[in-house]
Amino acid sequence: MTDLIVKEDKIIERILSTELVRVTERAAVSSARLRGRGDEKAADQAAVDAMRRELNRLPIHGRVVIGEGERDEAPMLFIGEEVGTRTGPRVDIAVDPLEGTTLCAKDMPGSIAVMAMAEAGTLLNAPDVYMDKIAVGPGYPTGVVDLDAKPEDNIHALAKAKGVPPGEITVVILDRPRHADLVAACRRAGASIRLITDGDVAGVIHCAQPEETGCDLYLGSGGAPEGVLAAGALRCVGGQMQGRLILDTQAKVDRAGKMGVKDPKKKYDMKELASGDVIVCATGVTDGALLKGVKFHPKLITTETIIYRSVTGTVRRIFAEHRQFEKFKLD
Ligand code: FBP
Repeated sequence: MTDLIVKEDKIIERILSTELVRVTERAAVSSARLRGRGDEKAADQAAVDAMRRELNRLPIHGRVVIGEGERDEAPMLFIGEEVGTRTGPRVDIAVDPLEGTTLCAKDMPGSIAVMAMAEAGTLLNAPDVYMDKIAVGPGYPTGVVDLDAKPEDNIHALAKAKGVPPGEITVVILDRPRHADLVAACRRAGASIRLITDGDVAGVIHCAQPEETGCDLYLGSGGAPEGVLAAGALRCVGGQMQGRLILDTQAKVDRAGKMGVKDPKKKYDMKELASGDVIVCATGVTDGALLKGVKFHPKLITTETIIYRSVTGTVRRIFAEHRQFEKFKLD
């Protein structure tokens, strides 16, 4: 690439970073209309429709690498679908139009609409399997924690690096029976645990902003696609993350193999999950520790969005008021 093209690409990428806000805003508003209705599928579909519509307005040549599933099971935003006007830069797109579908359906805190855009070919094409994850926020020496170390050792190492006793470390863990031993080990180490019922993209991102969320460490298994999205955000702020796909059947090994995973036991670090320049954008659907949810007022809708950009490490928050004029209404 010549310098000029590199420069132009960066300019386009800079402009696009604010365009992504519209994409997650629309998805968040559409699914928020179905908050608390007990219908996960409908809320998710509303978010998918809105996100796809907005993505197709962007001047990009996008390819969905993390999406709603394989083509035969997802008619929209399936892995491999091309999105955008096909006029701009080639980019990888990772989406979770409604992360925490159950949270939204039950009107519980923490559901978000989230997506990432990255240089083409730089996001891990993760199959829809579980991933073991560990993540910490910025400001720690490289390798301060490790996926293969015991939870107790990770907590002690992190506490030492932070200069606090282990009792002042807060670990985020998905509240699942499979995590019973992990929770017990963290309690033995004296850490505080924030159990989340769903939504581990936000769970990991919480560690990116410990001063706001009070969370230091993410541990446990959740969706692999969610892991890639979260790694993108952590990358932007200089956090650390490792993940390993849980390929516990031959069928999963084969599926991952078809998506390019050569070593089924590989421990990926953050820069392998999201290896290039990336922008991650999330809008709150329901209120959470990181983002306020969508609010509906007569003739006005408000949204809160956070955008992470790896090139500069900038984190922006956009609080938007969408006036509901007849000729310009949010769908
Ligand atoms: P959905 O938004 O698809 O419902 O996923 C919610 C979620 O909590 C993810 O954040 C997490 O990675 C995954 O489910 C955990 O899977 P499981 O509920 O099977 O433990």
